[in-house]
Amino acid sequence: MEFTMPCFLVSLFCFFGAFLVFFFSQCLFRLIKSTTRKLPLPPGTLGLPYFGETFQLYSQNPSVFFASKQKRYGTIFKTHILGCPCVMISSPEAAKFVLVTKANLFKPTFPASKERMLGRQAIFFHQGDYHNKLRKLVLRAFMPEAIKNIVSNVETLAVDSLHSWDGQLINTFQEMKTYAFNVALLSIFGKDETLYREELKRCYYVLEKGYNSMPINLPGTLFNKSMKARKELAQILVKILSTRRQNKEVHTDLLGSFMSEDESLTDEQIADNIIGVIFAARDTTASLLTWIVKYLGENPTFLEAVTQEQEAVMKCKENNGGEEKTLTWADTKKMPITSRVIQETLRVASILSFTFREAVEDVEYQGYLIPKGWKVLPLFRNIHHSPEIFPEPDKFDPRRFEVAPKPNTFMPFGSGSHSCPGNELAKLEILVILHHLTTKYRWSMVGPQTGIQYGPFALPQNGLPIRLYAKK
Ligand code: HEM
Repeated sequence: MEFTMPCFLVSLFCFFGAFLVFFFSQCLFRLIKSTTRKLPLPPGTLGLPYFGETFQLYSQNPSVFFASKQKRYGTIFKTHILGCPCVMISSPEAAKFVLVTKANLFKPTFPASKERMLGRQAIFFHQGDYHNKLRKLVLRAFMPEAIKNIVSNVETLAVDSLHSWDGQLINTFQEMKTYAFNVALLSIFGKDETLYREELKRCYYVLEKGYNSMPINLPGTLFNKSMKARKELAQILVKILSTRRQNKEVHTDLLGSFMSEDESLTDEQIADNIIGVIFAARDTTASLLTWIVKYLGENPTFLEAVTQEQEAVMKCKENNGGEEKTLTWADTKKMPITSRVIQETLRVASILSFTFREAVEDVEYQGYLIPKGWKVLPLFRNIHHSPEIFPEPDKFDPRRFEVAPKPNTFMPFGSGSHSCPGNELAKLEILVILHHLTTKYRWSMVGPQTGIQYGPFALPQNGLPIRLYAKK
């Protein structure tokens, strides 16, 4: 093709045009960056060099620390804990900004020792394509359509657990941990769960002891024992993978989803994510169940309302079939009062008081600078205990959920791209065990009922010892 003069001029003009656009956008970017740099940091104090305010946070109930800071500085303030400068935020708008609308500017962050123990390929630590792929696989196994199929197996686990506690003095949290662990294994391995339960439990229980230990990997330390247990756990998982590959059956559980051909994962990625899901599923659900048992025990009116609702579900099944049948997914949708008790417990107890993110670049929020590398903590508990959002916030009153809460004011399962994919399973296993607990048993709490312990989830003192009896 002939290159004419006008054609040359047009090309030259386009080149200069593109250059000018690039030049001005760079200037604008630098200008915005330098303006962000000049913004003030949020109010608050950073405490002592290196130690910051770690001691103030951990020497008291953390909720008191967060509430007193918020009272003094408002819903965004800075502090310095565990060697990191942090910005804490406690308004629904700020939580939405960090977790949803500007989630790309805030990456998930955990202590390096936790990453090593759970496994670096686990879903919590990632963003972008790999995270999206994992989320798709996890949601496929935990969406209602999938977990509908395991309701009767969850029920068997609930019935067996309650039966084994009959007439005993039990530590509610410890026993609920076992129940939640077994349900987690059921959701991961399906009916094969019973084959591996004891072996996996033995290793996982050693591993979890090291979760909050000092990361010193020397023979004899807790961390070292945990890392060894983790290795053994991964080996068992590889064995299970190879058995499944030989059998060539199709499974709809989480392992089946991870092993599907469309989104192939390596054995290491599968092992890290299975350990991660057990970690995410067990203590959270067990802690919530422990609080429910406590609140129902302290509030006879609500216990009566839940019991009547569950008896109605039971009678309806007896009338339809002549004899008691197993629970179905549809039955769990006929439990609105019990569901509100779960919601109110999630709010009052706020077992995950906050989560962690890290700013990936300098970010401006409401005229303040959140510097790159600083940790950002959305404080769920402060939002759930705000008197403007939930009047008389410390009062346990499930009736407040007769009206749906306003957007971003209630996020016990988080929000945005890292929100909890296991929330439907958690609610299901809680409804199922409450059905049998309230219709067939009574319980009384033993010992002082006022204290709260943090380990790391908020928990009634000593794990709530109770004595449980079958109803006559
Ligand atoms: C009452 C019980 C539970 C509560 C309160 C809870 C709460 C949460 C919260 C707040 C998050 C988001 C954390 C963040 O944004 O940093 C989360 C994430 C997660 N949860 Fe749950 N959870 C519960 C039970 C479960 C169960 C039963 C499972 C699995 C069976 C599960 C699996 C997960 C996973 C895999 C993530 C990470 C998601 C991601 O990073 O994309 N959780 N959970």
